[in-house]
Amino acid sequence: MSKSNAGSYTLTDNQTGQNFELPVLHGSIGPSVIDVRRLYAETDHFTYDPGYTSTGSCESKLTYIDGDEGILLHRGYRIEDLAENSDFLEVAYLLLYGELPTEAEQTKFDSDITYHTMLHEQLINFYRGFRRDAHPMAIMCGVVGALSSFYHDSTDITDPHARMVAMYRMIAKMPTIAAMAYKYSIGQPFNYPQNNLSYAENFLYMMFAVPAEDYEINPVLAKAMNRIFILHADHEQNASTSTVRLAGSSGANPFACIAAGIASLWGPAHGGANEAVLQMLNEIGHKDNIPEFVKKAKDKDDPFRLMGFGHRVYKNYDPRAKVLQASCEEVLGDLGINDPLLELAVDLEKLAREDEYFVERNLYPNVDFYSGIILKAMGFPTSMFTVLFALARTVGWVAQWNEMIEDPSQKIGRPRQLYTGPAERPYVGLNKRG
Ligand code: ACO
Repeated sequence: MSKSNAGSYTLTDNQTGQNFELPVLHGSIGPSVIDVRRLYAETDHFTYDPGYTSTGSCESKLTYIDGDEGILLHRGYRIEDLAENSDFLEVAYLLLYGELPTEAEQTKFDSDITYHTMLHEQLINFYRGFRRDAHPMAIMCGVVGALSSFYHDSTDITDPHARMVAMYRMIAKMPTIAAMAYKYSIGQPFNYPQNNLSYAENFLYMMFAVPAEDYEINPVLAKAMNRIFILHADHEQNASTSTVRLAGSSGANPFACIAAGIASLWGPAHGGANEAVLQMLNEIGHKDNIPEFVKKAKDKDDPFRLMGFGHRVYKNYDPRAKVLQASCEEVLGDLGINDPLLELAVDLEKLAREDEYFVERNLYPNVDFYSGIILKAMGFPTSMFTVLFALARTVGWVAQWNEMIEDPSQKIGRPRQLYTGPAERPYVGLNKRG
């Protein structure tokens, strides 16, 4: 393949000598893409790209990542700026509508979200059906999927207003659903949302308040919660977002699509990693054991990997991890917590970043490396870590889903394959086999 000056690639079939011109499409920033949409029709070949490491699956205006430089932008704004200066619902507005809201727009949006936070009372029956020890992510998958059986008036995906109502409902109700999943798992009564509280404050209230006493919001925790939500709001075409888009490409209703995204996020290679980081740090136990674990992570015959290290896109420090590390120190300092796991994490990061194996492969801490420690300090049990991620990512999922529906070039997602199974053969009756 060679690049032509005309902004296209020429693909040459070495057997026939025939040339095929492939157009190149340019985005606003970042690498251009080779448009292979006509490739099969013209060459009789598919592309082969397991894990989609070289494949752009859609056009998007929401989020841009420069993995080499460690840059993350939402609608052009740096994640560090948003984490420092913005509010989660402002970021939600930005992702949904493309611009930061005016004061009036923000007030209306906040109010619209706040007044959709209650759940249909009958949904409580769903919780009662789960085993007492169910993982909250299992409950999330079930209850979010069940929303489509309650909110029929917002499942017509061809109606922009119905789509918007579904998106608002999910952003609004996710904290309620998540907190109820936790309360159910510890046998405490559910708390109804409080409209006088901000999004982050209300979530903390629903998680940690009990009817027997007053609950006071700690502003340090509310600020950290808001920041954690912002850092997880969207991240381009990752596994769960691609799952949401793929599910939605068939015309499935938005609640079902988000339930699919939650299922994908649950895996330890994706959203489940922060839970795995804490387990790993507990297993390491003492800084003297770090070299042994680093050695295990480098051993190709050992399946162990350093959890919270490495990223498909970032080949530099994940900018979200930097913000979280600073927040982590702030929260622990303010709460007067001296968590040995934080010290262990800092030592582990230092050792790994000096190690040739990690340096050569550009393996840096990702967002999950410090998020587990901060969430633990805030009082969240490990089983809720991925749930918090799902709650915040719902904004990105619905914004990406809506962008896909509005895209005139959108088609049902249907990858092809390199078939390596048997060629056609005749059926053999049982009495004639082997
Ligand atoms: N520990 C040890 N080695 C690693 C690690 C790690 N955490 N991550 C990558 N590597 C090695 C691989 O073994 C591979 O080595 P090789 O070239 O000698 O074969 C090389 O680095 C490249 O890694 P890949 O697996 O090809 O990278 P990929 O992009 O497929 O994987 C992933 C990215 C899944 C995140 C991986 O780095 C990983 O498993 N990390 C730990 C889990 C984790 O923290 N996940 C959270 C991701 S962030 C998020 O979802 C919010």
